Amino acid sequence: MSTESRPTSQVFARKPLALLLEEAKGENRLRRILGPVQLTSLGVGAIIGAGIFVATGAAAHNIAGPSLMLSYVVAGITCIFAALCYAEFAAMVPVAGSAYTYAYATLGELFAWIIGWDLILEYGVSSAAVATGWSAYFQSAISKIGIHIPKLLSESPWKYDPATGHFASTGAAMNLPALIIVAIVTAVLVKGIHESANFNAAMVAIKVAAVLFVIGVGAFFIDPANWHPFAPFGWTGLNVFGHHVAGQTDPAGAPIGTLAGAAIIFFAYIGFDSVSTHTEEAKNPQRDVPIGIVVSLILCTVLYIAVVAVLTGMVKYDQLDINAPVSIAFSQKGLGWAEGIIAAAGVAGITSVLLVMMLSGPRVFLAMARDGLLPKATFGDVHPKFRTPWKSTILIGIFVGTLAGFLPIDALLHLANIGTLLAFVIVCAAVLIMRKKHPEAERPFRCPWVPFVPVMGVLTCLLLMFSLPTANWWRLITWLALGFVIYFLYGKKHSVMRQQAS
Ligand code: ALA
Repeated sequence: MSTESRPTSQVFARKPLALLLEEAKGENRLRRILGPVQLTSLGVGAIIGAGIFVATGAAAHNIAGPSLMLSYVVAGITCIFAALCYAEFAAMVPVAGSAYTYAYATLGELFAWIIGWDLILEYGVSSAAVATGWSAYFQSAISKIGIHIPKLLSESPWKYDPATGHFASTGAAMNLPALIIVAIVTAVLVKGIHESANFNAAMVAIKVAAVLFVIGVGAFFIDPANWHPFAPFGWTGLNVFGHHVAGQTDPAGAPIGTLAGAAIIFFAYIGFDSVSTHTEEAKNPQRDVPIGIVVSLILCTVLYIAVVAVLTGMVKYDQLDINAPVSIAFSQKGLGWAEGIIAAAGVAGITSVLLVMMLSGPRVFLAMARDGLLPKATFGDVHPKFRTPWKSTILIGIFVGTLAGFLPIDALLHLANIGTLLAFVIVCAAVLIMRKKHPEAERPFRCPWVPFVPVMGVLTCLLLMFSLPTANWWRLITWLALGFVIYFLYGKKHSVMRQQAS
């Protein structure tokens, strides 16, 4: 790797690949215990959750109708482009930190910071959205045995009203179940990944069984008449910074239609990328991490399309429930016994997503702290006994719990989507840049059809970003601006790369 460039200018200094690989051998490392099946299971564990079990209802009901199955195809293809790029990097730079580390090696420190900061948003806000979805399914499941959480503690104090485009008060004070599940998952994660991986495997088995049950049993209750009209809100739905470009909009001006549906349910696919944050814990990262990323994504894409086809075939799109659409579809067809089973499996499935999402954020912080961009004593501290980044796990737990306790799921979901899509854009672009600048670098897994796949990755992700309600762009920009302040006040001064270069 002698051709690696040494850092040149300040904020664009790149971290040499050779150095990254060398660091991975040092002290204070995480334990290498994950094989291909566990990595794929972590992927599926992170992917199938609140997106398919919860967001599908509102997306079919208000945004895409039965054509939501095509929305899932569009979002799935977008993710496959990005997944192939992630897989190339994960094999090439097999250390913790995921896209953050890839950006440091290719685009330089400032971009690395941007993407690292953005990944924290992705994992933090996704976790909060998932915890909120968990709370909805949990409440639906316990209501079957006659237990009801008091309204005051059952949901966020605010709710987005699509008719006005504003947040309205719900009369509740907080979403207590969401807060409690975040606290429990945080405690499990502080204790250690080995136990977490086993727990995850059990949860994944339960939710895949539930999804197969939905497809297998639900298929007998499909009435093809429910698939008409197929795209009641049109096929597109595109806004650029508030300027309507194509398709219909809802009363508040947010885009609706099949494409807009893809931008919303993109959330259901978030998670495959988290496999790459576990690279440092993989036994054979070069082979197994690409397998984990690509296999988990393809598996989930196929299952999702089947679930949505079945759901919209069972129940007319405008009668699908908004909070627990999958389980309630079965009681709508007179299968009350199935509703309870699916709701319980949904709770288990969503728990495993929360586990993987909350496992990923601290690993990004860990990588950033090792590079000096965040305080090492807090974010880089690996617990002497548990070997986990325990302090940042607790800090992220507090962040996620606060969001989940007080914000509504749709606002969280949209923000998670735009943050993740931005990360994907940067990773796809970085593959192109790396191929050009370092064609000689060893690539145990090569993304096929370069430049077609990365270019399509960038374009499709941007398309979905523009199909989200515009307010999310401003929220993303605000988050990034906060990140810049922290970088210029702290990271830039303490960067290990900078200190080595001077
Ligand atoms: N893809 C994950 C979910 O749907 C985030 O819950």
